[in-house]
Amino acid sequence: MSKVFFITGASRGMGVDIARAALAAGHQVVATGRRPEVVEQAVGAHRNLLATRLDVTRPADAEAAVAAAVERFGRIDVLINNAATFQAGYFEEISPEQFRAQMETNLFGPLNVTRAVLPVMRRQRAGHVVTISSVAGLMGQEFCAAYAASKFGLEGWMESLRFDVAPYGIRTMLVEPGFFRTELLEEASTMWPKLSLPDYAERTARTTAAWKSMNGKQAGDPAKLAKALLAVIEQPEPPLRWVAGADAVAAVEGKAKELLGQVDAHRALSSSLAHVAAADLRRSEARDGLDREG
Ligand SMILES: NC(=O)c1ccc[n+]([C@@H]2O[C@H](COP(=O)([O-])OP(=O)(O)OC[C@H]3O[C@@H](n4cnc5c(N)ncnc54)[C@H](OP(=O)(O)O)[C@@H]3O)[C@@H](O)[C@H]2O)c1
Repeated sequence: MSKVFFITGASRGMGVDIARAALAAGHQVVATGRRPEVVEQAVGAHRNLLATRLDVTRPADAEAAVAAAVERFGRIDVLINNAATFQAGYFEEISPEQFRAQMETNLFGPLNVTRAVLPVMRRQRAGHVVTISSVAGLMGQEFCAAYAASKFGLEGWMESLRFDVAPYGIRTMLVEPGFFRTELLEEASTMWPKLSLPDYAERTARTTAAWKSMNGKQAGDPAKLAKALLAVIEQPEPPLRWVAGADAVAAVEGKAKELLGQVDAHRALSSSLAHVAAADLRRSEARDGLDREG
């Protein structure tokens, strides 16, 4: 069945592939971006395509884009929160302004867009909110303090949003891609740390070079991800979380085992921290008394 997709960040990278895949599958697509003319050029003109302006950090843009989508197609079935940037760097070298900007785009951006879309989905009593997180949303990585913080934020928000909107027929899904060959590591999408501390200088130079050398060599194919994502969305019972890429599967599996190990390591101590109920306390005092007498 044909659906209306609403995609953020469709001027470059994964957003373009998702928009193209949705059009190819016969869906209607609202592809949004900071420069709608670039979006239209990247996705390719199509009778089922509406390219419209949406900077995710601007709530008014989100309201206007949602209104344009409803005017053109009458509804929104699937929201894909895709737009993001990558703030690289060690925490102490990321300026407070840079850290805040990362949260504005990667965390508050999807909140702005979803806030504008949910009233439409509630009216429909149907909808699917899909948010592209990252492996960095489930595990911290070196040089990723700000990016991981923004993606961890998305994970907690989405896992909770699920309960808020389920009564209105709205589903949620998180996607955690591993490394995919998009433009995320290009200068237009990656922000390098503004501050510079002597203690970090050598590590920052080495790690920056390592990240830069990965650009264009990532194993994941975003066109394949886009097609697979559509198939997952089309399942009768789509999952709450979809881990995308062999590297992501291995990393998330490792994190799950690590968490279990951390729980197991202090199971008895962790489980012994409740207030003792009055009746239990009386029983234990009585036992102590008998022990003393006997
Ligand atoms: N590629 C990977 O390896 C990878 C791995 C894990 C997760 N992800 C996630 O996948 C998603 C897509 O990233 P990508 O790899 O496709 O990156 P990309 O090639 O750099 O594309 C990023 C897109 O986001 C847009 N964007 C950035 N800031 C925006 C804003 N304020 N408002 C609206 N659009 C904005 C960019 O538009 P402009 O052209 O206007 O800049 C661009 O269209 C992101 O959520 C990213 O975190 C990617």
